[in-house]
Amino acid sequence: MTTETTAGELDAAARRVDTAVERAELLDAPSRRVAMDLKAAVEGFHREGLLRVVRRLKEDPRGKELLFELVDDPVVYALLVMHGIVRADPMTLAQQALDEVRPYLESHGGGVELIAVEPPVAKVRLSGACSGCSQSATTLRELVETALITRAGLERVEVVPDEPAPVTIGLGSISVRTQWTKGPELAEVADGRVTLWHPPGVTATGAPSDPGAIALVRIGDQVSAYRNACAHAGFSLERAMVDGEGAVLTCPWHGYKYQALTGECISAGDKRLDAYPARVDGDRVWVRLGT
Ligand code: FES
Repeated sequence: MTTETTAGELDAAARRVDTAVERAELLDAPSRRVAMDLKAAVEGFHREGLLRVVRRLKEDPRGKELLFELVDDPVVYALLVMHGIVRADPMTLAQQALDEVRPYLESHGGGVELIAVEPPVAKVRLSGACSGCSQSATTLRELVETALITRAGLERVEVVPDEPAPVTIGLGSISVRTQWTKGPELAEVADGRVTLWHPPGVTATGAPSDPGAIALVRIGDQVSAYRNACAHAGFSLERAMVDGEGAVLTCPWHGYKYQALTGECISAGDKRLDAYPARVDGDRVWVRLGT
């Protein structure tokens, strides 16, 4: 049975539970109480069983390793979060909080993007009707703030200014040479893995760290550029695995996971890769280096 199939079945099962709960809400009070007691008893039974499995796995070093792998499976993770056995990471909680308000924002012409979560602070970028000084923009911003504070347990929300849109400047222009550095050809950046690129004047130092290098990550036509230093212990990202489908980059040293295109750390919400602005012009990658 594939993970996708399992996830699909879990979704279907979750929908059945939701539907059953909605129908139970319509029952008369005594029947509703019986139905809810039954639900709580079944959940309690499952939770206890899962707790025992998790405890036993944690006691054994091999089991612990397996447990970490299992928690990477979104279905297992969701199940453990649902039973309160693991706590959702702050990034997931913040995403969930925003997902709840996003339809309302969009119906009013606004948008929100989660840039980073550095507890107790969330950084977001607002767009459309959410930005500006109008009364409605203020109301929409408050909605975002309230969602993040009350549902994701954060204390403060910072609004990150929009990145200026890339400006097309003639290649002969001095400002291009000073701000953007010509990188490799797009074809030299392999899809779905990390390609180390050494800017002019920087030479390779070799593993385990090569901090002068830039780690380029390509997913399809998009390329992101990072300082070649994992946010955990600073080792080289050269042999990181990149799952093109999920756009997740996994550091080869201790398994920290990052959003491949943004550098946000999935394993530890307070960390992220140092990113450089990168863009693709025709068949060439450009990276904005320096200050
Ligand atoms: S150096 Fe990357 S996970 Fe430890």
